Amino acid sequence: MTSATTTGETGRVHRLVKAAFNSRLMHRLTYPHGPDRFIELFDPTAVTDEVVGTISAIEHPTERSVRVSVRPNSRWAGFQAGQYVEFAMEIDGRRQRRMFSPAHSQHADGALEFTMSVNPDGVLTRHIKESARVGDHVVLGNVGGDFHLPLTRPERIVLLSAGSGITPVMSMLRTLIDERYDGAIDFIHYCRSTSDALYAAELEQYEGVLPGLQMHCIYTREGGEHFSADQLARLVPDYHDAQTFVCGPAALLEATRTLFDEQGIGERLHQEAFGLATPAASEDETGGEIHFKRSDRSTDNNGQTLLEQAEQAGLSPEHGCRMGVCFACSCTKTAGRVRDLRTGEVSGDGEQEIQICVSAPVGSVSLDI
Ligand SMILES: Cc1cc2nc3c(=O)[nH]c(=O)nc-3n(C[C@H](O)[C@H](O)[C@H](O)COP(=O)(O)OP(=O)(O)OC[C@H]3O[C@@H](n4cnc5c(N)ncnc54)[C@H](O)[C@@H]3O)c2cc1C
Ligand code: FES
Repeated sequence: MTSATTTGETGRVHRLVKAAFNSRLMHRLTYPHGPDRFIELFDPTAVTDEVVGTISAIEHPTERSVRVSVRPNSRWAGFQAGQYVEFAMEIDGRRQRRMFSPAHSQHADGALEFTMSVNPDGVLTRHIKESARVGDHVVLGNVGGDFHLPLTRPERIVLLSAGSGITPVMSMLRTLIDERYDGAIDFIHYCRSTSDALYAAELEQYEGVLPGLQMHCIYTREGGEHFSADQLARLVPDYHDAQTFVCGPAALLEATRTLFDEQGIGERLHQEAFGLATPAASEDETGGEIHFKRSDRSTDNNGQTLLEQAEQAGLSPEHGCRMGVCFACSCTKTAGRVRDLRTGEVSGDGEQEIQICVSAPVGSVSLDI
């Protein structure tokens, strides 16, 4: 009772302080930074133009993963199960932004749940695993993506995932369970082993929770087979009638895309990738030199994306999604031609704004980095 009252009073004080800071006078007094930067000094979650969250729990479900619960401030407007959220933290004086798919139900109140596969060379996931603490702040940016449950729920659903790709489909499953969904769902998850599985215990408990729910957890290092068309037909004989949502590594996405297209049911397949599958560069696109003008460094062009080649040259250009979604990596190409890896289109050789995570050089290129 006491704590509820205190929370209510604190909320009222926050609202009054925010209203005062939002006044025209305050905007003039704090020009050019704006009131938010000053409020942030006292309470970062009270900023008026950003969704800020506070880490409320950190767990280590497996050796290679970390799970963070983040309590958002009142500006959080929710998401649709399956969508991603831009997640940013200040690390060594730089704001690092990455995309993560929340795994909680879209109907859950309270903390958002992010389950991350830890990349040993990665900046953000390694920081969360090794250094983040309860009480640290996270800025939650854009919520987006077309990979979500349709508003009118389909009568037949297949949720298919592998490894850390389980997060968006876990959110879909938890959402459908909260809705007491009465259609038929098959949930198929591939993982190397029980000890590596992110939600093994919870998934076991879901068997029979909804009348039409069938669970299939396949452990590939414990005798389980990898995905194949025959296996899908065996597990879900009527998959042609379902809307199928898949998230996982490139090989799984490619295999399911090929199968569904061959069967003429490509429009029933919905996919999410956590990164860009970069095609190997052809011989005429390697060679030449990448020049990073501002840093005064050069490297031989090996055909990989300009972001990867900049990192290999010892630079740390700003980036977020690494797949052309967030524009964090945008920079000016001052000379040379680049291929957009999403469309295959080759640019002209003049000055142009490009996203270096999805651009591969065609011969020599000069960048303003
Ligand atoms: C829509 C979407 C949803 C996603 N959802 C999830 C999710 O729910 N769970 C999840 O685990 N992941 C998810 N991801 C992936 C996530 O966004 C990150 O890409 C991933 O966690 C790695 O982030 P990081 O900061 O640890 O690695 P980064 O620092 O981004 O590093 C990524 C790679 O680049 C290389 N690299 C980085 N810096 C350098 C350097 N200086 N020199 C050489 N190489 C370098 C690293 O070797 C590493 O392999 C999602 C991605 C997208 C696009
Ligand atoms: S890192 Fe997001 S668009 Fe390049």
